[in-house]
Amino acid sequence: MFNCIQCEDNIFRNLIDGQWIISKNEEFIEITSPIDGSLIGKIPAMAKEEVDFAFESSKAAQLKWKSIPVSERAEILYKAADILLQYSDELTEIMIREIGKDKKSSKSEISRTADFMRFTADTAKNMSGESIPGDSFPGFNRNKISVVTREPLGVVLAISPFNYPVNLSASKIAPAIVAGNSVILKPATQGSLCGLYLARVFEEAGIPKGVLNTITGKGSEIGDYIVTHPGVNFINFTGSTEVGTKISRITSMVPLLMELGGKDAAIVLEDADLDLTASNIVAGGYSYSGQRCTAVKRILVVNKVADKLVEKVKEKMNNLKVGNPLEKDVDIVPLINSKAADFVCELIKDASDKGANLIVGGNREGNLIYPTLFDNVTLDMRLAWEEPFGPVLPIIRVRDKDEAIEIANKSEYGLQSAVFTENINDAFYIADKLDVGTVQVNNKTERGPDHFPFLGVKASGIGTQGIRYSIESMSRPKATVINLTR
Ligand code: NAP
Ligand code: G3H
Repeated sequence: MFNCIQCEDNIFRNLIDGQWIISKNEEFIEITSPIDGSLIGKIPAMAKEEVDFAFESSKAAQLKWKSIPVSERAEILYKAADILLQYSDELTEIMIREIGKDKKSSKSEISRTADFMRFTADTAKNMSGESIPGDSFPGFNRNKISVVTREPLGVVLAISPFNYPVNLSASKIAPAIVAGNSVILKPATQGSLCGLYLARVFEEAGIPKGVLNTITGKGSEIGDYIVTHPGVNFINFTGSTEVGTKISRITSMVPLLMELGGKDAAIVLEDADLDLTASNIVAGGYSYSGQRCTAVKRILVVNKVADKLVEKVKEKMNNLKVGNPLEKDVDIVPLINSKAADFVCELIKDASDKGANLIVGGNREGNLIYPTLFDNVTLDMRLAWEEPFGPVLPIIRVRDKDEAIEIANKSEYGLQSAVFTENINDAFYIADKLDVGTVQVNNKTERGPDHFPFLGVKASGIGTQGIRYSIESMSRPKATVINLTR
């Protein structure tokens, strides 16, 4: 099933205009495994002319695709979900090797993606327009009626990050195509193989030629060209705040949907169930080595229960399994590359140098950073503010809930926060004041379930995702006004 996307020498092809095309460009990027450095494939660094062809194909395909009934577009998603599950084992192996994700999480990413596709198809089929009578506005009567339907936007450029290479590609593609758009997928370079396999799944499901095209190449090289391409009608980007900010600076008059970095706080009050809190902090902070946008990235705990919480978190961290995801089930895996590991080590060193207490970890073997916990982190330390995207958590002790809110809101980020308390009034008091997209009460920060709205404020994003929200973001209202003469 996947043979067509690969040619000899382990070189991958791109799906353009319904064909798996061998790049004419002689330049290839080697994809090596973060686990052991082994070569797992070579992807084309596509030339500008090839990118242009992908845009032409997408434009032409979209004009036809938008007039296909929604129920038929939805059928492709149901089929793609079935095919994805059929190849789950094969794709899991590729994902483990390509991004070093542990087996359980890789498998669950794939099954979650199949659920996402089906739910997207169901949702699209059940969305309806509205008719608005004119007489609710002063001076108008019922002879004027606006019939509001939804129109696709055109060609959606979907740029996905390395950490959920299947899910965060499919969660852009599925809502976009069911809304009648065509999509150009530019997967993260480390994550491209998963992205290309996903494209093959859609192709096998019968997506018409050009409705889904793929582009590979380094974002630092082709990024500017693709985001400013005159053929782009919408950009759906997930990745770092740094790249997201650059895209928003250089684009013009193209709507953006962006999910970016975070520094999600777990706020712990004195009446919190500390066992539940510690379990959520450890699962939320360390799974996939903290390489999740919604990972718990700082703990703001009131002084009174801080010692107890530190003990419980430390105890639960002993259960984290560290190592090679190809050999065993682990929580802590090597980080995606040495640059990422170096960055985490810089933050660890800065916290140590400035006097934070190292409770657990702090050591590194290659790109594997052991789960690390610091207590008494102060606001002059980088770890209090920067997103490590690695397995290191700072504990910042606070006087009370108001100081926790103040510090939480001082962050440039505003993705999610968690509040642990048994007092619903305090939970709402804090939730009301936090400047974030979502507040979790007595649970770790997390994106799912995927039909909930998912958004970041401040430097954490623009616009709202979540199944219905994504379909709405990638379509626009079209008003046809009936003027009756009666
Ligand atoms: P990244 O370096 O920003 O890359 C994300 C995507 O952007 C990749 O496909 C990358 O391609 C591409 N890119 C890089 N430079 C570009 C440019 N100049 N123009 C256009 N595209 C460009 O992020 P990452 O390392 O993959 O992911 C980690 C970051 O993503 C973290 O900050 C994390 O918080 C954030 N994230 C946020 C969410 C969320 O929903 N809020 C979800 C997941 C991740 P290359 O791979 O070729 O460079
Ligand atoms: O990395 C960012 C993802 O959108 C987070 O999803 O909370 O399900 O891990 P998750």
